[in-house]
Amino acid sequence: MTTAALSTSAFLKACRREPDGRTPVWFMRQAGRYMPEYRAIRGKHTMLDLCATPELAARVTLQPVMTLGVDAAIIFSDILLPFVPMGLELEYVKGQGPVIHNPVRSARDVERLHPVDVHESLGYVADAVRMVTTELDGSTPLIGFAGAPFTLASYAIEGGGSRHFKEAKRFMFSEPDAWHALLGKFADIVADLLLAQIEAGAAVVQLFDSWAGQLHPDDYRTLVFPHSRRILERIASTGVPRIHFGVGTGELLEQMRDAGADVIGIDASTDLDTGWQRVGYDVAVQGNLDPVALFAPRDELRKRVHAVLHKASGRAGHIFNLGHGILPETPVDNVRYVVDLVHEWENDRS
Ligand code: CP3
Repeated sequence: MTTAALSTSAFLKACRREPDGRTPVWFMRQAGRYMPEYRAIRGKHTMLDLCATPELAARVTLQPVMTLGVDAAIIFSDILLPFVPMGLELEYVKGQGPVIHNPVRSARDVERLHPVDVHESLGYVADAVRMVTTELDGSTPLIGFAGAPFTLASYAIEGGGSRHFKEAKRFMFSEPDAWHALLGKFADIVADLLLAQIEAGAAVVQLFDSWAGQLHPDDYRTLVFPHSRRILERIASTGVPRIHFGVGTGELLEQMRDAGADVIGIDASTDLDTGWQRVGYDVAVQGNLDPVALFAPRDELRKRVHAVLHKASGRAGHIFNLGHGILPETPVDNVRYVVDLVHEWENDRS
């Protein structure tokens, strides 16, 4: 197939809210530890090496496309990779997740962060995108992605994952100038990185603001929104659909739409129907099965998949996904079962 075939893909049509009998499905974190094929490669390489070696990243990206039959690929990468050229010492620690050994704790630390030329220091991401799009040859669209400034800042300041975001919020509340300087730096790099992925062939991009739901809407408006908007405005001129996603964002959906989104992610704690009503039917939505439903008995899982599909009520512009990423240890057969259920549903309706 040629790239022209992409325009008829169910996923791209849904991103553009073009009517189509089919509901596309893919999963956040569809390449990962729940897959034996992934573990086999990961066992031989560190997470950073996997991301920075385009041949390996491309192979891992394609695994779920082959074994699950999903309607979109997402480039294998990580939102935290820009930390490395910025001078933040990133390590993925087994059983703990990402650790930043020299977290940002002062205005001085923000000043010290290196400017980044993404083509030079993160060129491997675009290289992997190029390899995957060549391999897919128009059969399946590829999603490029990056982390949004708030979520990146939370890792950079906390030094890793966090429960209460105490350090990040303390910095945000007490050093607003340094906070804006930090988010501004992330915004520049992230926009460059997304544009580089688009130039390399990404058909859609997703901005992950995973932890934005931790914020009061007033804080999101003044301390986060302008930076995410700056990124998404720069992408708008390319015409490539933008997915804007976060968890616990029920109260932020309208603002996230206004920051820039062709598709809004709806997490598992938000009703898809009300969420879509809130953002308006002139944007597409993506979601929103609870990732833990994939551990439930088949009957229960089927009911829950059908409930999400019913909530979308066949309206143009629904992309089936989870409310958040696939968890490690998720049974692969259940993931495949969900893909089949969504695809059969399409057949029922056409
Ligand atoms: O979706 C995909 O298949 C593409 C790959 C992808 C990864 N990270 C690979 C990864 C994507 C889209 C991400 C995004 C990401 N990374 C987010 C936003 C999405 C979300 O879940 O909210 C965040 C917050 C991160 C930061 C990050 N990277 C964390 C918190 C962790 C540890 C948690 C975990 O699952 O281990 C990572 C590591 C990471 N990124 C892994 C993978 C496959 C696990 C690495 C391993 O040990 O094999």
